[in-house]
Amino acid sequence: MCGIVGYVGHRVALDVVLGGLRRLEYRGYDSAGVALPSDGSLLIERRAGALANLEARLDEVGRDGFTGTSGIGHTRWATHGPPTDRNAHPHRSSDGKVAVVHNGIIENFLELRAELEARGIWAESDTDTETAAHLVALAHAGELAGAEDAAGDLTAAVRAVARRLEGAFTLVVTHADDPDRIVAARRNSPLVLGLGEGETFLASDVAAFIEFTRSAVELGQDQIVTITRDGYTVTDFAGEPVAATPFQVTWDLAAAEKGGHDYFMLKEIEEQPGAIANTLRGHLVDGRIVLDEQRLSDQDLRDVDKVFVVACGTAYHSGLLAKYAIEHWTRLPVEIELASEFRYRDPVLDRSTLVVAISQSGETADTLEALRHAKDQKARVLAICNTNGAQIPRESDAVIYTHAGPEIGVAATKTFTAQIAANYLVGLALAQARGTKYPDEVVREFEQLESIPEAVAEVLESLGEARALGQELAPSKAVLFLGRHVGYPVALEGALKLKELAYMHAEAFAAGELKHGPIALIEDGLPVVVVMPSPKGRAVLHSKLLSNIQEIKARGARTVVIAETGDETVRPFADHLFEIPAVPTLLQPLVATIPLQVIAAEIARARGYDVDKPRNLAKSVTVE
Ligand code: F6R
Repeated sequence: MCGIVGYVGHRVALDVVLGGLRRLEYRGYDSAGVALPSDGSLLIERRAGALANLEARLDEVGRDGFTGTSGIGHTRWATHGPPTDRNAHPHRSSDGKVAVVHNGIIENFLELRAELEARGIWAESDTDTETAAHLVALAHAGELAGAEDAAGDLTAAVRAVARRLEGAFTLVVTHADDPDRIVAARRNSPLVLGLGEGETFLASDVAAFIEFTRSAVELGQDQIVTITRDGYTVTDFAGEPVAATPFQVTWDLAAAEKGGHDYFMLKEIEEQPGAIANTLRGHLVDGRIVLDEQRLSDQDLRDVDKVFVVACGTAYHSGLLAKYAIEHWTRLPVEIELASEFRYRDPVLDRSTLVVAISQSGETADTLEALRHAKDQKARVLAICNTNGAQIPRESDAVIYTHAGPEIGVAATKTFTAQIAANYLVGLALAQARGTKYPDEVVREFEQLESIPEAVAEVLESLGEARALGQELAPSKAVLFLGRHVGYPVALEGALKLKELAYMHAEAFAAGELKHGPIALIEDGLPVVVVMPSPKGRAVLHSKLLSNIQEIKARGARTVVIAETGDETVRPFADHLFEIPAVPTLLQPLVATIPLQVIAAEIARARGYDVDKPRNLAKSVTVE
């Protein structure tokens, strides 16, 4: 949610900053802007809408003047104030010396704005961010009460202001008179540092600088970082030096590019076999399941008497599947809860509760706050995350990373299937620690998981028809999705993909619920997507769903059926049939989801929408 970039080095900063913003546009695309110090003043350009609008504006004014080698940039997902030119970042102080980009929400900004107005400083925009620009300028001028010693020192000025702000914020600040330095403050919103030869980068995500360096540094909560072309310093908000953790990014520029596809999402759908395989790799060592990071003892895992899974959106759908697997393998009770609801209803937690927090980005505010609530109640937290060193894994007791690589398309695809695999690893790790499965059974389950990437690759090869169907279904007003047991979360995920990509009304039901109300929605020609269980795996589920299909078919539904290869019983009731390979019941979601992702993307494309950047959305949601 909002992408920010800062650069000090030897290249033309405008090019570096714009390149970084291009790779961060998935975080928000309501507006974009840049600020670069130049001869004692700041060159600022900003435009509402996608980055392309800013680039067009820069072409209009001419880029020749933008020769500086430091600068900051921003791509916005609007919170305070509509997405207009006026509200686009960077925001400038009234003396024109300070420019600020911001990700997050400054919760006490009204109070701060009133304080500024009392001093005769009026805001130009509707944003919370602008207050920070004015305050930094005051502190730098030695005119902020209590921070007089920050005069002339940008780092001290940002630190003094950070102490005054409440809420979630990452601020990146440049000063017209100090072009060789950029200062940032970080609380609750992501910020990572990149180290090159004679150049240093700051960004919301390593993707912004991966073209130049894979050497990165994790920044923690409540830290102030100053970068110059020769390096960086980090302190806490009190000014005490703190050690930051360096790491190497394990993927490269090619992974962050489209690789010949029209959209990142289409590339990411195809990357699923690799994403699942990479997530599993290295987790079976000498016949035992191991986690990526474990700050819990085996005894802690044995003491667990209840599991909560918390997550949002697609990650929540993967969490629904964790419940099936963990309960089945460990006999532990598992509750799954939307992270945004969790802490508001006083859940029963104690030190023997394990909370599994699932988040692709590792920075979703709802999930982070749910995790913190759990920790306050002494529960243990295990994170499943796709982003190395993000806040959620940092604050957790144990971590499994989904090594899916960067996911740029705003709609989650490969991270969903990778999360399912990681959830199953959690189930197996618990079963192993608690002895509810023999070691050879754990190994057997793991090996079945390991064979899934091949089955997913098989599905991907047979999807020509799904693409054609997407075109046919594009004019529909609504689509329903049905599933039972592990097919139900798949149906929910299929409906979510369709809503977010094609802006089409889509709803998923547990098929057994149909007759309790939703069947009234069925009318002639209404497309209904049905996820069929295996006829061999859980025969009873299969026969129930077969009856449900007949019920909707009798009422005129146009059925799109995802069924196991060779399931002939369903053929007469399927207007469109997509065959998927036979796999064990718990693993079926990993293959059954793929056609639904493709159908949603194709419907969206047929409707003329950008599947990488659905309207109103951002990839990571750092506000509650
Ligand atoms: C949907 C989607 C969202 C995210 C949700 C959680 O395609 O991507 O529903 O799944 O916002 O995000 P993370 O996993 O980053 O916590």
